[in-house]
Amino acid sequence: MTHIVVVGSINMDLVTLSPRFVGPGETILGEGFLTTHGGKGANQAVAAARLGAEVTLIGALGDDAFGQQLHDGLASEGIALEHVQRVANCASGTASITVAEGENQIIIVPAANWHVSPAQLAQAEAKIASADALLVQMEIPLETVEATLRLGHRLGVPVILNPAPAQPLQLEWLKLARYVTPNQHELAILLGADSQQDFRELMRRAPCPVVLTRGAEGAWFGDNSEPTHQPSFKVEVVDSTGAGDTFNAALAVFLHEGLPSAVRKACAAAALSVTKLGARGGMPYRRDVEALLARTA
Ligand code: RIB
Repeated sequence: MTHIVVVGSINMDLVTLSPRFVGPGETILGEGFLTTHGGKGANQAVAAARLGAEVTLIGALGDDAFGQQLHDGLASEGIALEHVQRVANCASGTASITVAEGENQIIIVPAANWHVSPAQLAQAEAKIASADALLVQMEIPLETVEATLRLGHRLGVPVILNPAPAQPLQLEWLKLARYVTPNQHELAILLGADSQQDFRELMRRAPCPVVLTRGAEGAWFGDNSEPTHQPSFKVEVVDSTGAGDTFNAALAVFLHEGLPSAVRKACAAAALSVTKLGARGGMPYRRDVEALLARTA
């Protein structure tokens, strides 16, 4: 069985459904509200587990009520949680999400996620050494992102860096990743470049192989040569929250099949994920991805 280790955030998502996004100082009537389990790290762990991988999550929760609910939700997905620490006198991470017009806006309060530390990685080194891939995003301290890249590189475990939310990074770190998986905006920020620049040019400037996501236009992958395009799968979008997380998880799970196959399956999984509400609502199981691929073969 493929073994994936995810280093990342765990959040409670506070989701407001709205007819449109509000402006500064404005109040409008929303259409609905729900709390759902999220966080980029936790979402990627859940997506990988649903796609059939054995998953270990390295993260942190607060000692509040959300912390227990989030823990129980992850346990029910079969994710190994012995490397998720519980931080005393600390809130769990939250994400205030507005869903409107098929898009979302998100404000994250990291709280306990800010305690995910390089020391936790050291404690999990044996697990990481036996992993087929290591997934990391940027809702945790950057020193832990760097430590993940360095450890994966030293152990020979491929690291997939999902640089979200986008922040400038030392280019040296990017060289330690097997793949970096930004969207165009994130790639521009990583490189300190203009986001209006042609994405192919941005990809050429990256110091590491890039798998670039472009929503409904699909994904591009490659290094310094002309990138290869994988078109998206056409679906009706209900909520795009968590699509990137599903994409990254599928990429890690199917990486052993080679990059073209992994990217195709990642696009299929991400497409299915946006057809239901909530970051994990539409997150598919392996059989769902296989059925979509069979229908569109
Ligand atoms: O990628 C989606 C996730 O981003 C949400 O679940 C939210 O928690 C934020 O971390």
